[in-house]
Amino acid sequence: MANTILVGAQWGDEGKGKIIDVLTEDAEIVVRTQGGNNAGHTVLVGGKKYVLHLIPSGILRPGKTCVIGNGTVIDPIGLMGEIVGLRAMNIKVGKNLLISETAHVVFPYHRELDALRELGKGKKKIGTTKRGIGPCYGDKAARTGIRVVDLVRPERLEPLLKAKIKENNEVFRAFGVKPLSFAKVLNEYAAAGKFLAPFVADTVVYLHHATQRKAGILFEGAQGTFLDIDHGTYPYVTSSNTTAGGACTGSGVPPHRMHRVMGVMKAYTTRVGEGPLPTEDKEISDMLHGLGREFGATTGRARRCGWFDAVATRYATMVNGIDELAVTNLDGLDTLKTIKVCVEYRIGRRRVEHVPNNIEQLAECKPVYQEFPGWETSTSGARKWGDLPPKARSYLKAIAQMTGAKLKIASVGPGREETIFL
Ligand code: GDP
Ligand code: IMO
Ligand code: MG
Repeated sequence: MANTILVGAQWGDEGKGKIIDVLTEDAEIVVRTQGGNNAGHTVLVGGKKYVLHLIPSGILRPGKTCVIGNGTVIDPIGLMGEIVGLRAMNIKVGKNLLISETAHVVFPYHRELDALRELGKGKKKIGTTKRGIGPCYGDKAARTGIRVVDLVRPERLEPLLKAKIKENNEVFRAFGVKPLSFAKVLNEYAAAGKFLAPFVADTVVYLHHATQRKAGILFEGAQGTFLDIDHGTYPYVTSSNTTAGGACTGSGVPPHRMHRVMGVMKAYTTRVGEGPLPTEDKEISDMLHGLGREFGATTGRARRCGWFDAVATRYATMVNGIDELAVTNLDGLDTLKTIKVCVEYRIGRRRVEHVPNNIEQLAECKPVYQEFPGWETSTSGARKWGDLPPKARSYLKAIAQMTGAKLKIASVGPGREETIFL
């Protein structure tokens, strides 16, 4: 299998977990390269639902190796819980999981700062997952972070953590927040370090050898293109590079070892958290929520929903170099009589061809819609292209063409088998 970078082409929750699970059948290794347990990737296998936050979705397939790469941020308590939870569901987690030594560690002060900053922003809050992601990446960039290599060595962890807790407690006192107990945090995190130590490795070297023997590697993106710290709707973004380049820096696998980029997108648009969403629409939101769909996998929040936005996905093709597309949740549109697709934005009478970098301008953008006739019948039983109603096929072809990449997968349900390959 070609080394494949899989990215979300919208605002996250595109169904990356499901597509990774499907593609893992032909891969040897699955790697997470950015983000932390802000991600929530849902996979349905044999009627059982698994929600992965930090562990790659490939873990559900026996015989595959999963890597949590250097570009991620790891909450060790959360990760421990995830491992224990998977084991309780009879999923093997042992030598098939490797954790990078150089990934940064999320501590309780990161989560506390995340919450405090959100509170301080008031109406301008980002709507983060409150998992401490921003403050942890902040420490990484400021070169004041603590890494996995430190976490698993108590003699290194102790002085580093002591200094960080002292520094952060001064901030908490200024905010009138209860300071953290160094002894308590040290105890808890040293124990987590001990639990995780057997998984820790130099994953860059491991992946280098894997590329040399031509093992098929899947790079599992988290979040989505418009949550990218550089290319997203800043400041309403996450704190990592969610676009294709992040797979290289976040794993240590060089760009010329990557063979293809697959973009995952829903047949409509969703976003969870604050920030502009040009095609947001009450009709489709009410319809999807009424079906019990589109509630967040990490925080349970209702996702904001809108029509498919081809201006956005075209931009995603540009910044990620998307070759192939997986379109998910086609079945979400099954009941609609008419389906809208945003083909361009306008500000007044001016045509806007690309997603503006200035979010005030983006907020002013009015979508121009093209209407497609709905197929008004269930697609969830379709297993091959020819099983889909002609109107659904036309819709899929049109959104892939507007996005500018080749349609490779259409997904008509959350299960493994509810997948159509083209
Ligand atoms: P991720 O974060 O990109 O992995 O996506 P999430 O798992 O957060 O959200 C996608 C949701 O859509 C999950 O509940 C999936 O089980 C579900 N899903 C994925 N593909 C399909 C599909 O084709 N049809 C339906 N009905 N659900 C899907
Ligand atoms: P997956 O991998 C959807 C959003 C949050 C918030 C913003 C910043 O499941 O697609 P953060 O906690 O990262 O500082 O929050 O990013 N966000 C996601 N939205 N899917 C995700 O992950 C997300 N991870 C973060 O809602 O708006
Ligand atoms: Mg998700």
